[in-house]
Amino acid sequence: MNHFLDIHKTDAAALRGMIDNARSMKNARAGRPKGTPDAEQPLAGRMVALIFEKPSTRTRISFDVGIRQMGGQTMVLSGADMQLGHGETIADTARVLSRYVDLIMIRTFEEQTLLEMAEYADVPVINGLTNRTHPCQIMADVMTFEEHRGPIAGRKAVWCGDGNNVCASWLHAAGQFGFDMTFTGPPTLDPEEEFIGLARKKGANVVIERDPAKAVTGADVVIADTWVSMHDSQSSKERRHNQLRPYQVNEQLMSHAKPDALFMHCLPAHRDDEATSAVMDGPHSVIFDEAENRLHAQKAIVRWCLGV
Ligand code: CP
Repeated sequence: MNHFLDIHKTDAAALRGMIDNARSMKNARAGRPKGTPDAEQPLAGRMVALIFEKPSTRTRISFDVGIRQMGGQTMVLSGADMQLGHGETIADTARVLSRYVDLIMIRTFEEQTLLEMAEYADVPVINGLTNRTHPCQIMADVMTFEEHRGPIAGRKAVWCGDGNNVCASWLHAAGQFGFDMTFTGPPTLDPEEEFIGLARKKGANVVIERDPAKAVTGADVVIADTWVSMHDSQSSKERRHNQLRPYQVNEQLMSHAKPDALFMHCLPAHRDDEATSAVMDGPHSVIFDEAENRLHAQKAIVRWCLGV
């Protein structure tokens, strides 16, 4: 069963194959209206359940559009409207859904929910984000980096801010794609040791540097994300803003990176908090390419899961 649960749990050659496939599918669609089907229809006759227990714009729409382009059908489901949100077990939900659909994508809170869904489903399961990781986003981000700057292997990525679920998947990717990762942020918001350890075990040079200017020096890509994630309490907002303000990505900070460094943000952004609009809309920014590449990267992930 080809579940796509996390980048470090997926074979590196398979990941590389997905990125290459995503690029060729993107190129094949160049200039075509968004609503037209792909020339190839590998998902014809396939039904996909897209379950959201948290809000989403990009993940919801890019999976839905991508699956339709490949000839498949989708059901976009809110966890709260399913019996899942009213006490039915994840195991029973997984077994029932497996009788109806060919693939399940779930965005949920606890990683355990995703893992149980995968354990009990008879069909592949894709991680559309948990509190701990966001692998689909980073597949799109690796694709985006390589589109602009060539192979990511051996490059320096710098994460500025909260060591959150997106940062965790960047660390997983550092191990699997062979690039180096520097984290700069306050000590209380460091990424989990487990994620750092996994990347180092795979040979990635992972550095924790509290001085943001030093951290960004020589960076090939500088990455920011929201300072308050969906699972963080709103009561922590003021404290987090105070802690994270020194790590804002602004033009001054970007000036320490390589002249051709990219700026990335998975969106949604709180403009002028974690990154200034001048950076987000400036010459280094590829944030909307990242958003577009969610579509192409996830199409490749779905095909890999289904073996089509
Ligand atoms: N980046 C991302 O996952 O966006 P959404 O929350 O809008 O899906």
